[in-house]
Formats: sequence, structure tokens, C-alpha cells
Amino acid sequence: MNDFIITRKFHFSASHRYYLKNLTYEENLKLFGKTIFEHGHNYKVFISIKGKIDNNTFMVMNISEIKEMVNEVIDEFYDHKNLNLDNPFFKEKLPSTENISISFWHFLNDKLNLYQVKTYENDEIFSIYKGGSNVILGRVYRFSCGHKLYNEKLSKEENFKLYGKCSNENGHGHEYKLEVYIEGEVDKETGFVMNLNELDKIIFEVLEEIDHKFLNYDVDFFKDKLPTTENLLLFLKMKLKPKLKNLKKLRVFETENNIFEIECE
Ligand code: NI
Repeated sequence: MNDFIITRKFHFSASHRYYLKNLTYEENLKLFGKTIFEHGHNYKVFISIKGKIDNNTFMVMNISEIKEMVNEVIDEFYDHKNLNLDNPFFKEKLPSTENISISFWHFLNDKLNLYQVKTYENDEIFSIYKGGSNVILGRVYRFSCGHKLYNEKLSKEENFKLYGKCSNENGHGHEYKLEVYIEGEVDKETGFVMNLNELDKIIFEVLEEIDHKFLNYDVDFFKDKLPTTENLLLFLKMKLKPKLKNLKKLRVFETENNIFEIECE
């Protein structure tokens, strides 16, 4: 019988800070930047359960039961709390976005048949945990490019038939959104799969090659390849995978409506 996955979205606001007692103030500042100071986020959490349909209710589980169980945990340990001080899971661990997904698993796994926990710290940082030793860290970037989808070997009419408005000979542009998925075990000290500053440095270096460029003319990779979003993903994978061994997936939003992804394992 089919397994279903049911997801409910939750919200909470909490404060936290990243600070390791075994390091000096300067070392902490170097490692965590301004996040060594108390600050807060409006978190979003997506709790997914899995299961089979119940032949009496025709549901896997009543979603209001999920809501009740999760909200009980959120009210007690997360919402309007200081995660470092008020949540027992973070007595010995830092409340990184990765550890927050793991913490929900810890509190809920004996009550619900969990499939996945996905936590957004804000629109740019998220984590995904499905049990086991690995966590996914997700990071969102934006960049803007001009391009045109025009195959010189085809006539203007044939290009229009194939690529529509995107074949405009003088080009057009998009503000792209890129999601980078890094998978690994969390560092026991920091709670991070990867230091975000290190990740940002690697990503920005590559995005620098395409941001505010006319892809067809300004970027060598696209001299003989059309800058479709598929080829853009191949470009990004080729550049990023050698620098990020634990890169799991890349996802590009050409617009909010057109979304493309590629596995990178
Ligand atoms: Ni924070």
C-alpha cells in the first residue's frame, strides 16, 4: 500500500546566540561574527510525517492531531524562548539551524512517524533532517543575468517556435534565485554542517563570474552552449562541486514559476 507524506507548517520566534565557552571572545567573534550576541529570528518549521491511509478515516493521521502535538512542544521549548537557556536540547549544543531540525526530531520522534523536519531561520538559511547522522544545510543566493535563447543554426521563426519570447535577439534578463544544498554531519562544537562564511565565499566567487553579465557573450562556458537554466545548472555544478565535496543539490528559480534542479552527489 502507498506511503503518504503529510506536512504541516509551524512558526515560532526565539532568541539565540553562538558562543563557545572554550574559546576566547576574539576567537568566538572570528568564528561566528555578530551572532555571538543575543538576537532573534522568526523561524518557520515544516514537520512531515509518513504513513499509510487509515481505512476508516481515509487519512494517514488527522492533521489537527499533528498540530496539537507539535504546538505543545513549540510552546514549551521554542516559542518566545531563549533557545540556549530555555531549551534542554541546547544545554550542550549550539542552536544552529541544523541542530534545530535535529532537536524537533528528538522531541517528536516518539510521538509521530516522522519523515522530515525542515527549519527556516529566515528566507536565506534552512536545514533538512530525516533522521540518521547527516543533515542538509540550505542556503539561498540571488544573482542577475542577461541572456537570450537563440540558436544561430536556426531561422528566426524556428527559434521563436522553440524558445518563444526568450529568443528575442537583443536578449532579456532574470533575477535568479539559487538554493545550495550541503549534506553532512554537524560539527560537534559549532552545530554547523559547514561554516556559512566559508560557503558564501566559495559561492560568491563563482557567482561573480555570471552576476550582471550577458551570459551568451560575457561567459566563456556559454559561447557554444545556450544559457538555458539547465546549462546554467551544469555550469554551477562544474564550478562548485570540486570546491564543495558535500554538495548534494543545486536548485535554480529562473522566475518564481520556473524551477530547475540538479543532483550533485
Ligand atoms: Ni541567528
